[in-house]
Amino acid sequence: MPPEKAELRYGEQVIELPVIEGSQSERAVDISNLRAETGLVTLDPGYANTGSCESNITFIDGEQGILHYRGYPIEALAEHCGFLEVSYLLVNGRLPNRAELDEFTHSIRNHTMIHEDFRLFFRALPKDAHPMAACSAMVSALATFYPDSLDPRDPTEVEISIHRLLAKLPTIAAYAYKHSIGQPFMYPENSLSYVGNFLRLMFATPCEDFVVDPVVEKAVDLLLILHADHEQNCSTSTVRIVGSSHVNLFAAISAGINALWGPRHGGANQEVIAMLRAIADEGLTGREFVERAKSRDDTSRLMGFGHRVYKNFDPRAKIIKKAAFDVLERLGIHSRLLEIAVELEELALKDDYFIKRNLYPNVDFYSGVIYTAIGTPENMFTPNFAIGRLPGWIAQWLEMHEHRHKIGRPRQIYTGATQRAVTKIDER
Ligand code: ACO
Repeated sequence: MPPEKAELRYGEQVIELPVIEGSQSERAVDISNLRAETGLVTLDPGYANTGSCESNITFIDGEQGILHYRGYPIEALAEHCGFLEVSYLLVNGRLPNRAELDEFTHSIRNHTMIHEDFRLFFRALPKDAHPMAACSAMVSALATFYPDSLDPRDPTEVEISIHRLLAKLPTIAAYAYKHSIGQPFMYPENSLSYVGNFLRLMFATPCEDFVVDPVVEKAVDLLLILHADHEQNCSTSTVRIVGSSHVNLFAAISAGINALWGPRHGGANQEVIAMLRAIADEGLTGREFVERAKSRDDTSRLMGFGHRVYKNFDPRAKIIKKAAFDVLERLGIHSRLLEIAVELEELALKDDYFIKRNLYPNVDFYSGVIYTAIGTPENMFTPNFAIGRLPGWIAQWLEMHEHRHKIGRPRQIYTGATQRAVTKIDER
């Protein structure tokens, strides 16, 4: 039995701190009363060693390379479930039976359209606007169209907001893309699956019939499942911290989309392809690029490698690598980018620099290869990630609201000037 309390000695004081144990035997020292008892706060830049909440949604063992949603291994969910089934699981805490899934799917289909006036927003954006900026702005703007469902403490309003968001984010993301290429917006086609409808919104035009390719549909569905939640990562922590002020769900999710955009987070999938293309275009060898990524004089990193939590293989990367080979073979595509990715992976996994730092391919390393093969432009990779991560953000936001919680408000250690006198402007 582990001790139930930790002791902290500080000067003459010995403080007892409760030890909290999770269902997978993770342990944490509860310091919530530390400041009240001692005046001390803890300092943990980047929160690398800080548990911000207790959660029963997603379990990661970064040392073993394990990922579970609600207790189910990611490999099993990827094999047996569809994205909306996994979304239901994350949001409701259990897998749906067929009737429940049908009802959930039906409700989401019912909300795929956006208000006609809402479409005008896109017109105001420059053609080269990054779709992540458009997605976050448009999700935030949903709050202006649905003032009837903004109260985070009203379960009926929350449920309708959840369904609206899940239904409309693919429409919004696809319209951001259509606007950037000057094509007409397609209306949703609710007889299609969630992913089939999204592919049609992205790739169809009113001039021709569009047939959803089942290989592509399955591949995108898989990618969405693999991205659906990842406990307290940067964007999810953002959703929680913004949501902790009791702002509406749309505003909290919009903040999460912005956090995801960064190249050290979800934006890495776009950066991976940029990196692979640069290697191909500049005629670099894999070895030369790996040396660059290791060099302190060069700002390049091996994008799609490394993870704050996984110090072993990211289980999602294994599934995506296999899917990348499958999809390319089924579509009859030869990809130079995939070849370069495989070479970089092999080199890095044998290289002392990467071995010592436990840097392995992460979820983003091969996902862009699949997206490129199916014709998704690079700046749409991260919006695809956002569509996948949406049910996870929602589940985490809901969980926070289900429990008593404080507003997210970290402390700091101030290191600036001590009190100074203001001299008048002419005397400075
Ligand atoms: N290439 C080269 N070196 C790397 C890489 C990389 N991809 N990742 C980490 N390192 C090195 C760092 O330079 C540092 O070296 P040092 O100890 O000699 O200074 C060491 O490994 C630790 O790196 P940190 O940035 O401190 O690790 P942290 O856990 O904070 O960062 C992160 C994790 C941001 C994912 C990082 O590995 C990275 O930038 N990877 C590339 C971007 C990427 O793929 N992001 C997607 C992550 S998955 C996701 O968000 C969905």
